[in-house]
Amino acid sequence: PAQAVSAGRAGHIIVFGHRGASAYAPENTLGSVQEAADLGVDWVENDVQRTRDGVLVVIHDTTLARTTNVKQRYPDRAPWSVSEFSLAEIKQLDAGSWFGPDFRGERVPTLVEYLDLLDDTGQGLLLELKQPELYPGIERQTLEVLDRADWLDLPHISRRLVVQSFSAPALRTTHRLRPEIHTGFLGNPPVSQLKQYASFTDEINAEQHTVTSAYVKAVHGTKGAHRRPMRINTWTVDNAPAATRLMKMGVDGIITDRPDLIESTARQR
Ligand code: G3P
Ligand code: CA
Repeated sequence: PAQAVSAGRAGHIIVFGHRGASAYAPENTLGSVQEAADLGVDWVENDVQRTRDGVLVVIHDTTLARTTNVKQRYPDRAPWSVSEFSLAEIKQLDAGSWFGPDFRGERVPTLVEYLDLLDDTGQGLLLELKQPELYPGIERQTLEVLDRADWLDLPHISRRLVVQSFSAPALRTTHRLRPEIHTGFLGNPPVSQLKQYASFTDEINAEQHTVTSAYVKAVHGTKGAHRRPMRINTWTVDNAPAATRLMKMGVDGIITDRPDLIESTARQR
């Protein structure tokens, strides 16, 4: 694998390209990851789900309707759930045209294909288990895929991989199965519950409007699952004033559709 990354380029703030560089290329495609890499972004965020025949794929919505041409191709298979289509069927779909004619022919990537590309680009991965309650066993399966791709052997694994989810049970399971992996909880648990979350989580990844200076301080004052101060990242921040406000509050990372803008904002501080 390529060299592990250590931090975002923008000083001490880590900039995560949300679903790749999704303001500029169709979200969660390999083209979107490559665009983020071309912009010099060290980390990308994605969303992992499972096909009917049990393959892990990278897609945000639980249906194929918004980001592929599935409705035209399979008009009678509403609601077009990811879990109701085989990989072969999904691979026939166009996952780029909805975004713009230049992206025609993009495909929904498998997690394996996605990891392969990251090995070339050297980027770190903020991997989201998306609605894991729909996919029993997806925590273990994701770890097996990561393991087979040699992603779990890195000496400084937290510099290359964080597994995040809105589901605390999925993170508990991930932590129990592979305690060396760093995890991030998507949400903003009350300060009184941070210690509880810290038993299985290293990061709080909170929606931007829920973050305050006091909350950042409380998160940093809590030791996470790896006995280091918990970190706080925030999403989805696509404009400079909001990024500046959050950086002043002391957040560790920003998850954004426009990573170039946030990188340059951070550098100007
Ligand atoms: O990484 C944060 C963000 O991805 C969570 O929301 O809906 O974009 O998956 P969503
Ligand atoms: Ca996500």
